Amino acid sequence: MRYVIGVDLGTSGTKTVLFDEKGTVIASDTIEYPMYQPKNGYAEQDPEDWYNAAVNTIKNVLAKSGVNAADIVGLGISGQMHGLVMLDENNEVIRRSIIWCDQRTEKEVEEMNQKVGREKLIEITANPALTGWTAAKILWVRNNEPENYKRCRHILLPKDYVRFKLTGEYATEVSDASGMQLLDVPHRCWSEEICRLLDIDMSMLAKVYESCDITGYVTEAAAAFTGLKAGTPVAGGAGDNAAAAVGTGVVEDGKAFTTIGTSGVVFAHTSKVSIDPKGRVHTCCAAVPGAWHIMGVTQAAGLSLRWYRDNFCNEEIQTARLMEKDTYELMTEEANTVPIGSDRLLYLPYLMGERTPHLDPNARGMFFGLSAVHTKKHMLRAVMEGVSYSLRDCVEICREMNINVSDMMACGGGGTSPLWRQMLADLYGCPVKTAASKEGPALGVAILAMVAAGVYGSVQEACAAIVKTDKVQQPIEENIPEYERYYRFYTKIYPAVKDCCGELAKL
Ligand code: XUL
Repeated sequence: MRYVIGVDLGTSGTKTVLFDEKGTVIASDTIEYPMYQPKNGYAEQDPEDWYNAAVNTIKNVLAKSGVNAADIVGLGISGQMHGLVMLDENNEVIRRSIIWCDQRTEKEVEEMNQKVGREKLIEITANPALTGWTAAKILWVRNNEPENYKRCRHILLPKDYVRFKLTGEYATEVSDASGMQLLDVPHRCWSEEICRLLDIDMSMLAKVYESCDITGYVTEAAAAFTGLKAGTPVAGGAGDNAAAAVGTGVVEDGKAFTTIGTSGVVFAHTSKVSIDPKGRVHTCCAAVPGAWHIMGVTQAAGLSLRWYRDNFCNEEIQTARLMEKDTYELMTEEANTVPIGSDRLLYLPYLMGERTPHLDPNARGMFFGLSAVHTKKHMLRAVMEGVSYSLRDCVEICREMNINVSDMMACGGGGTSPLWRQMLADLYGCPVKTAASKEGPALGVAILAMVAAGVYGSVQEACAAIVKTDKVQQPIEENIPEYERYYRFYTKIYPAVKDCCGELAKL
């Protein structure tokens, strides 16, 4: 039997899974690490934490499984997108990584619009200048930490830093590189023009591959740390969303998925480049050669519930511990006792600013309609509903762009919640399915590694053999108009307070 490893470098932790060639999980291990928020709107992580978590989880899955490292035919890495890792001439990390949900780059976004022009940016990078994406972060370091910028020789994305440490190669692949805003997305290569206009030295950028190409081989040194065999091929892998698409079989037109992870994503596959002229959803290269995807992103999806749990649910955390239950499961049971609309309480999930549909780093979260009748349970349900409304916003835009989103999969931690999936089915008006495998992005990059190693001839062929669906949540007829009323009202709140959010940011 041949085996592959999928490493999923997320925001809350890194999960590594060892699969056999049929996609069966043989062993899995997760290590968590912190996110630093030195200021309101800032978000950073330490690349060494990512690397240590990757090394230790790989070591642990090898030990747990007892699989011989010589039988592992490939490794793939999925990563949180957009994070900036800068290395000096000795390949030392220069500063903590500024990660995807950091919103400090409002001025740099203006600088990009001035230097390149909004239309050209959309034409070449398929997206408007975005605060969370890598190019704006590079400019921020140049503008605010010139000493650090001067020392920079290599720019890598989070997963590509781990790849570098494993293989010694400065490499990336099209799906994650699309989120740097330096890639010519329709042509799948770095844009000389954008780099010239932004004065970014292209020699700092990694070599771009397709996601199912081999990008390098595990070095002797990395083999000694991880227990892998030196020479094990490392595939391109993918940004976490493109990886989840492969892991849930969203590799053909008509297929889509929703992730409720730290962020929330509505992702739809498309075999032709399709761009929202208003820039409310992202267009990126898919992990499938010759294909793209549309992606709407809500910044704080699972993050909203985690924030609520960590700040207000100590009692639930303790009870769940005593009952040997998952805290989120207990919280969901509580939310389920509250009716649709949370007795007229609405939540806007903009804890980290918002992308789809508002593109506003200053947007902030809020409960609207609080009254003395409301309890903690109402607030809890309102949080889950608010995240679902925000995901419905993403689906609305895809439908406006004539992208079919009728075959919907659910993934991410939140996607395991039947209540959350039911909210989505009722709000989207279509069935929401789960994949039989819960390993989304890790399975996706393991599939890419199998294709790179020649176990399967194409990504589609591998998905057809490996990915199976499990539970299906059908929309409940009588819920649809109920949610619709509240969703319509939800869409009115942000425009009414947008200016106040901007003012608040300046107080
Ligand atoms: C996508 C995005 C997030 C991150 C973190 O544009 O920012 O989905 O990849 O998961």
